[in-house]
Amino acid sequence: MSAASQGHDAALAASSSKRPLGILAALPQELGDLIEAMRAESGVRTVTHGRRDYHVGTVHGAPCVVTLARVGKVAAAATVSALIHAFDVESVVFTGVAGGVGAEVRVGDIVVANALLQHDLDASPLFPRFEVPLLGMSRFTADATLAAQLAAACERFVAEEGAASAARFGTMRPRVHRGLIISGDQFVASAAGVKALREALPDALAVEMEGAAIAQVCHEYGVPCAVVRTISDTADDHAPASFVSFLTEIAGAYSNAILTRFLVARSAG
Ligand code: ADE
Repeated sequence: MSAASQGHDAALAASSSKRPLGILAALPQELGDLIEAMRAESGVRTVTHGRRDYHVGTVHGAPCVVTLARVGKVAAAATVSALIHAFDVESVVFTGVAGGVGAEVRVGDIVVANALLQHDLDASPLFPRFEVPLLGMSRFTADATLAAQLAAACERFVAEEGAASAARFGTMRPRVHRGLIISGDQFVASAAGVKALREALPDALAVEMEGAAIAQVCHEYGVPCAVVRTISDTADDHAPASFVSFLTEIAGAYSNAILTRFLVARSAG
């Protein structure tokens, strides 16, 4: 057995004694190089479950299960359920891009959720708009410790690389926001659509398609979760083009920068 494979085995054995962190994104670009980094550090055991590949190993010193949820609330809920039941994750982090909704939220900024809500859930008049029927809740809070750790990783990224990143990608210097992220099974891509969301939910900072579903399932199972989103577009008529170029050119670099800092700090703590 080579020294490298002995190292991998030791890292995999060490990771098995500690409950792993689940890390997921919708699309491969949103995960950056996380799976490659895991492969290099510990080796990867890949388990296929419900048509998804779950990658088990250690990355930046932290035992993790990394997977792609694909797009939308059902896909996200199914994936996080598997992370909880089949992999016994200790907590969950979702990373990816989102459309900016808050007036101060620009392309290239980062939003860490304090709370998440499904903006397309409406069983009124039987239940209040946005409320999950029979659960009696519309807003799911992110785990305060995990969200603070993610926000700290984002702040360190901005302090250390924000100016260089802005110059490289032609964006403004990133800013980190914390607040409400809203999720629905729609790509919001019109001035009228984003205006309607602002009117209905004035404190919403960003819109995406998975986070609140993850937060609901994690709430129901008592699993801490947090969501971090980089702003790829402002959910208006320019959103499709802005989303595609941000996703292909920038999203991976942001994810790498944020997740590396988050995981290194977590392993040290
Ligand atoms: N993810 C990134 N941009 C989005 C948008 N405009 N609507 C929904 N999800 C998104």
